[in-house]
Amino acid sequence: MGGTFSINQKEFINQAQNITKNIPTIAVVKNNAYNHGLEFSVKCFIEAGIKAFGTTNIAEAVKIREINQEVRIFLMNPTAEFDAVRQYQLDITLPSLEYYKKYQQSLNGINVHLEYAGLFNRSGFNSAEEMLEVLHHEKKLDETERFNLTGLWTHFGYADEFDGVYEEEREGWLSIVETFQKRDIRIPVIHAQNTASFVRDGLFDGHTHLRLGVGLYGGTPYEEAPGTYNQSISLSAPVIQIRPLSKGMPCGYSAAFVAKKDTKAAVVDIGYGDGIMRSRASYECEINGKMYPIRALMMSHMLVEVDDCVSTADTVYIYNKNLRVDDFRNRGIGAVSEQLGALNFQTLKQEVY
Ligand SMILES: Cc1ncc(COP(=O)(O)O)c(C=O)c1O
Repeated sequence: MGGTFSINQKEFINQAQNITKNIPTIAVVKNNAYNHGLEFSVKCFIEAGIKAFGTTNIAEAVKIREINQEVRIFLMNPTAEFDAVRQYQLDITLPSLEYYKKYQQSLNGINVHLEYAGLFNRSGFNSAEEMLEVLHHEKKLDETERFNLTGLWTHFGYADEFDGVYEEEREGWLSIVETFQKRDIRIPVIHAQNTASFVRDGLFDGHTHLRLGVGLYGGTPYEEAPGTYNQSISLSAPVIQIRPLSKGMPCGYSAAFVAKKDTKAAVVDIGYGDGIMRSRASYECEINGKMYPIRALMMSHMLVEVDDCVSTADTVYIYNKNLRVDDFRNRGIGAVSEQLGALNFQTLKQEVY
C-alpha cells in the first residue's frame, strides 16, 4: 500500500522525442499507457510532437478524445460500438471478412484501417485478396454508404527474435503493401512497426507511421538493442520495521525466509497486491545506494535481508536507474510490458516530478 511510482516528466518527454526522431508515430497507450497513467502520458506525448494514439480499449480511446480534440485515435480491438466511434471520432480496425459482412451497413463514414493477420495472427485478414474483396464490395455501394479507407496495418509478433521468423513475417507484410501500391489504392496511414522492428529496420518505405510502445516508455525492445533508452520511472516503498533475526529464525508465511546467520529483515510496505511480480522478488532491491536481497513477497509486504546501514523509513527501490525494467526482462523476469502491466494503480501512489 505504501508504494510510489515516480516519473521524471522531462525525461519521459525527452525519451519520446529521442526515439521517434520526428517520424510520425502512433503512441501505443493501452493498459493505462503501460501503467504510466493515460492522461499523463497522452499529454506528454503530445508535447513530444506525437499526434496519433492507439489503444485496445474504447473507454481509453474516449478518454484520449476528452483530453484532445485533434489527435488521431486508433482503436486496435474490433468494436461494434459504432455510436461511440462516431461521437468520439475514432479510427477503427477492420479485422476480418466475417466482421465486414456482419457490420458493413454500420460502417458508413467511419475511418477504418484494414488489418493484415500475418504470422502473428491475433486478428486481421488472411490475404490481400480478402481485403481487395472488401474494397471491391465498397465500390459498388453508394458513396454515402461507404467507410473511409484510412489505414492499412499489421502487428509483428517476432520482431524481438533473431531466428529468421521476423524476416519472413516482414516480407509477407511488405508484399501486401506492394499489392496495394501496384493497384494505386491510396491509403493515407500505413503502419506496422513496433519498437523492435523500427530499431532493426528504420521506417519501412511507403509507411507513414511507426506504432511504438516500449521504446517510448524508455525500455529497450530487446537485449543489446542499439540506442539510448532513458527509463524515467522508479518504483519505491518505505521500510516500516526492522526485525532482528537470530540464525535459524523463520519469518513470513510458512517460514518464507529462515535466517542463515544472525541478521536483520526489513519489512517493506509493498507486495504482490501492488503488482510486484513473484519472479521479480527473487532478485535484489536498492536501499541507500546499496543492493540487498529480497527474501519473501507477501500481498502487502516484502522482506529484505539488510544490514546495520538500513533503518525504518528508508526508501527501498524496486525499479530505478540501477534497477531497469528491461534488465530484469533480460534476466528472465518477464517482458517490460508484463512487469509494468502488472503494477496496481489502485494501490500505488503516482508522483510526477
Ligand atoms: C498492436 C500493437 N501495436 C504496437 C505495439 C507496441 O509494441 P512495442 O511495445 O513492442 O513497441 C503493441 C504492443 O503490444 C501492440 O499490441
